[in-house]
Amino acid sequence: MAKTISGFSKLNKQQKIEWLAANFFEDANAAEQALLAWHRPDEQQQKIIDGFTENALSNYTLPFSVAPNFMINGRVYAVPMVIEESSVVAAASSAAKFWMDRGGFHAEVLGTVKLGQVHFRWNGQPERLRALFPEIKTHLLATSEDLTANMRQRGGGIRDIELLDFTHLEPAYYQLRASFETCDSMGANFINSVLERFGAQLELFIETNPALDLHERDVEVVMCILSNYTPNCLVRAWVECSEAELEDLARDAGLPGQAAVDRICTAVRIATIDPYRATTHNKGIFNGIDSVILATGNDFRAVEACGHTYACRDGQYRSLSRAWVENGVFRFELELPLPIGTVGGLTALHPLAKQALAMLGNPSAPELMMIVAAVGLAQNFAAVRSLVTTGIQQGHMKMHLTNILNHLGANEAEAEAAQAHFCRETVSFSAVRGFLEARRGEKQA
Ligand code: MEV
Repeated sequence: MAKTISGFSKLNKQQKIEWLAANFFEDANAAEQALLAWHRPDEQQQKIIDGFTENALSNYTLPFSVAPNFMINGRVYAVPMVIEESSVVAAASSAAKFWMDRGGFHAEVLGTVKLGQVHFRWNGQPERLRALFPEIKTHLLATSEDLTANMRQRGGGIRDIELLDFTHLEPAYYQLRASFETCDSMGANFINSVLERFGAQLELFIETNPALDLHERDVEVVMCILSNYTPNCLVRAWVECSEAELEDLARDAGLPGQAAVDRICTAVRIATIDPYRATTHNKGIFNGIDSVILATGNDFRAVEACGHTYACRDGQYRSLSRAWVENGVFRFELELPLPIGTVGGLTALHPLAKQALAMLGNPSAPELMMIVAAVGLAQNFAAVRSLVTTGIQQGHMKMHLTNILNHLGANEAEAEAAQAHFCRETVSFSAVRGFLEARRGEKQA
């Protein structure tokens, strides 16, 4: 049947599009035109983008935006953000401005350790393996020196290798857990290459070891792969100021600053107690984090997976941020692991990721960790502030108005009139449609 194909990856792009257009779209022509329309006119640029994945057909566009006025540790950044959700960049910008007047954001990196694992099966006595482990470790370090030479020159490399015994949970199952310093690179390829070498050398070492009995020379490496959970690649960002400086915090909602602060702290505690609220709360944090991660060519799935595991490190999923008042000082803090890089991967290859990093002054990986955490915190502050005062729909729907107007095909004059009208009115799809219909009706009459 026509809908399946073998050798698809070998077709050229035009052939792939034609085949898909003929088999999967009702309007083959429109599909083909749309896919071709988002191509880069520059063949060389397009080739680089196509090279990121297999079977690339076109480019999927998201807005590349910027949130200015982010003061972090005394330095001002304009932060690049790639995200489709209307209100995220506006919220980040407004929180950045708010805190700029109150000392800005503070951030510190608490660790930069990344992790990898070799999972293997071995059937001997655990103490025999433990006794042999120092020798195994020396062997693994020595036989991976060619792979680590460059990284060691940059100040990184393998930091340690541990042997972990999981035989009480899974018969014969052990793990080598290795820690790495990967400097400014995210380091996934480096770590995985070293781990695969460890796996091969572990087998060789055990299978050919004369100190082991014959039945002990049987080892099976199950898999070698980095762990995306890096609790010691950790950053903390915070804002703080006296309660007196928060007087205007919720003026729009008619709330005194202190009442708003009290509600913010309560809202964050609720997200610490209740996983349902914590998930939404942390989603708001990741609105900011992911958008900078994407803009700078980093791996947002790795960052998300790691952050969510960290959020339930004590067994329950909780808020990644905390807020409290002590001695009249309000403090709002975010702590999370961020395994990211500023060299290698897409960072130099993706033309806009390269510009995003340039806009940030080509930061080191630890500096980028602090910027990303500050944006996550800004986003969280903006969301919680709106939630406990005006509600989020007011700001959100104002931003979404442009999308609705575009969807309804509003021209420039109609859009301008709608923007003026909906300053005072509640935005909804039907309200905007009604407004446009009434206006168009009047014009015709
Ligand atoms: C929406 O994308 C994010 C929020 O729901 C976050 C939150 O509830 O804290 C507003």
